[in-house]
Amino acid sequence: METEKKVSKVQDMDAYARMLSCADLLREPAIRSAIQALKLPSGSRGLDVGCGIGHHTLWLAEAVAPAGHVTGLDLSPELLAHAKEQVKKSRLSKQISFQEGDVNKLPFDDDTFDWIWSADTIWIGPKAIGCPAEDPLPLVKELARVVKPGGSVAILFWSSQKLLPGYPLLEARLNTTSPAIAPFTNGMKPEFHFLCTRGWLRDACLEDLAGYTFVTDVQAPLSDDIRRALTATIQMFWAEAQSEVTREDWAEFERICQPESPDFILNRPDYYAFLTYSLFRGRVVKE
Ligand SMILES: C[S@@+](CC[C@H](N)C(=O)[O-])C[C@H]1O[C@@H](n2cnc3c(N)ncnc32)[C@H](O)[C@@H]1O
Repeated sequence: METEKKVSKVQDMDAYARMLSCADLLREPAIRSAIQALKLPSGSRGLDVGCGIGHHTLWLAEAVAPAGHVTGLDLSPELLAHAKEQVKKSRLSKQISFQEGDVNKLPFDDDTFDWIWSADTIWIGPKAIGCPAEDPLPLVKELARVVKPGGSVAILFWSSQKLLPGYPLLEARLNTTSPAIAPFTNGMKPEFHFLCTRGWLRDACLEDLAGYTFVTDVQAPLSDDIRRALTATIQMFWAEAQSEVTREDWAEFERICQPESPDFILNRPDYYAFLTYSLFRGRVVKE
């Protein structure tokens, strides 16, 4: 029984790793632009919190190469195994290390890093990542604790997408369904929404706060990889939404979003879509 549970967890995490990898096919331009905007000093040492399969860890290491170093930290040993495998093939493998750990209690001394990056991890409810507090402040303070004075904390989230050109009302209605608003819930305190991250950084006493949004544009002709990633993203957001939309909306969704449909939207020769990542950063100040 225990063995079966372990096998199923590994399979779940393998599927999750594939999902992150697929998402990276789409978001790489936005993420790389965000890294560039941070102007990380060459030779600096950083931490990627909730690094997952380590793609961002690698891109961050490229930004501080040749002498810099990035540590990827994640709670999941299964995802870290994917990350290590990925990075082994890279010329920067010596500039990267991975460590298992919990963002709620980082396994590092105060003032260890020049900067921190954390993408799609500091979600609220932070309960989703095991934080006992009801608000994100303790998490942000824990990030700031391990950054040297004058260093930076950068927190990023996938912030929006427009994937169904020509169907704005259908897309808006699909986006109000509970699978599409996860990990948020109706009734969540407005100040805990990720677009309020500047407030979290301010309350953690960081300075020089700023938010920026970066776009990935996607357009026909679509490569096989991008087509696969878009199909998976459409399914991830809306495949479970049937019970929360009208019958007419669901029929329309199936007509334009099922790959086997003659009207599959990704087959349009003029298909255009975009997604955005929002980056919030602040400078750590200590007495
Ligand atoms: C949505 S994934 C994002 C992964 C990666 N940053 C990316 O954008 O591809 C969230 C990550 O946070 C990790 N995570 C969840 N709770 C955590 C915790 N308490 N401490 C550290 N990592 C955690 C998960 O294992 C997962 O890899």
